[in-house]
Amino acid sequence: MERDGQQILSSAPLIHKLMNWCRLSSRLAMSCYPCVHHVEIGVVDGPAAVECLKLHYGFKVTAFRQSAVADQWLLVRNDTRFLVTSLKTGDQELLKDDNYVINWTATKASSELPSKDSVFNIAFQVKNIDAFIQRLENQGVDLSKSLRVVSDSEGTVRTCVVKSIVGDVHHTLIEKSDYAGVFLPCFEPVGQGNLQSDLHAEQSLIYFDHAAMSAEMNTTTAIIAWYERCFGMKKFIINRDEDKENGLVLSTDKVGLRLRAMEYWKCAEVGLLAADTDDGHERLPIVIGEALSSEPENFADNQIESWIRQHGGPGIQHIAIYTPDIKSTVRSLKLSGATFAKPPPDTYYSEIGRLHDIIKAGEDIEGLKENGILIDTEADGIFEVERKQSKENKESYLLQIFTKPLLPSDPFFLELIQREGATGFGSGNVEALYRSVQAYIVDGSSP
Ligand SMILES: [Fe+2]
Repeated sequence: MERDGQQILSSAPLIHKLMNWCRLSSRLAMSCYPCVHHVEIGVVDGPAAVECLKLHYGFKVTAFRQSAVADQWLLVRNDTRFLVTSLKTGDQELLKDDNYVINWTATKASSELPSKDSVFNIAFQVKNIDAFIQRLENQGVDLSKSLRVVSDSEGTVRTCVVKSIVGDVHHTLIEKSDYAGVFLPCFEPVGQGNLQSDLHAEQSLIYFDHAAMSAEMNTTTAIIAWYERCFGMKKFIINRDEDKENGLVLSTDKVGLRLRAMEYWKCAEVGLLAADTDDGHERLPIVIGEALSSEPENFADNQIESWIRQHGGPGIQHIAIYTPDIKSTVRSLKLSGATFAKPPPDTYYSEIGRLHDIIKAGEDIEGLKENGILIDTEADGIFEVERKQSKENKESYLLQIFTKPLLPSDPFFLELIQREGATGFGSGNVEALYRSVQAYIVDGSSP
């Protein structure tokens, strides 16, 4: 099938029917689970990272595990689940015995403790882990942690870990159809005592909306091909400006990068579990960015290469979390100490085109400006025509904001996103993101 914008759009009704068929099949075949089971953060200082997520972002510690080689905390807010892991040893033989833990910075010869933080693991729940492992074997992909069967009084889980071809990115695969515990076997539930109750009660930060990876130049095509072969994901067109061969190229005097995107395709036989809701919750888009140039003299103008240098290689650049009222979320998080990237200049909100977008969206300019929130009304992907029709002339747009780096020794950051029909990723704001993020990436200053 041709994948240029026009043909994709004209195929939308057929695609929609196909998606509906798959959705119906999914309803019959599986329970409702988030597609992403959790996201793992490897840190040098576990208690400090836990405190940051608790105090500044309103997450609640709901489970804890202490093993001979690591401490692990599960932090939850609505359907957003972060697992914070802090290693006690870098010894590969000892780590091999642990059912869950891997050293995210290790080379085969290394047994040192990680000296850098990293958000390194997007864990997926799968329907049939044996079939998944077979698929990986057929593709010549070795597991970085072999299949484990882990049980406690709540049931049994089968799990393994595979390393992706993107830097330090790993994926834990979890089959847990009959497990009734709060998270995974051997994790102890933690009570309500330390909950930031006022923040947690809010209906904000609901679920992972998308992930973004920074990749080396000229690698995104191979990365997407790998995820298609191994995970049954499919490339999709980010918006109508995307070229079939070259991806979405964003090139100005300040920014030079290429974006490609993929998501899990429900019809894929690989069988990742996906929540089955109508609000986009079931989607798992992953956006991959690469620089258009790797020339050292261009580093200062190149957020992807700058990020990779600071991270120590390609990896997960940011995770976006959906929130239904971004202005109120930002106000609350700022009061609790969360820090956000430098807001755009005031002229961002008065540029003619954007001012028009804000007014057409019915958004309040001062509310966006006061909180440094960005707006994007980009022409979206293949589902946009259908969504626009269903919304009866309501403008489709998204609002977004980026935090400062979350961890002391890594440039990973969070994005908060409020979607009002739009399915893109804010590519119209990449330059504004560059302006706000580049300042601390280039000068290396802490959040
Ligand atoms: Fe994003």
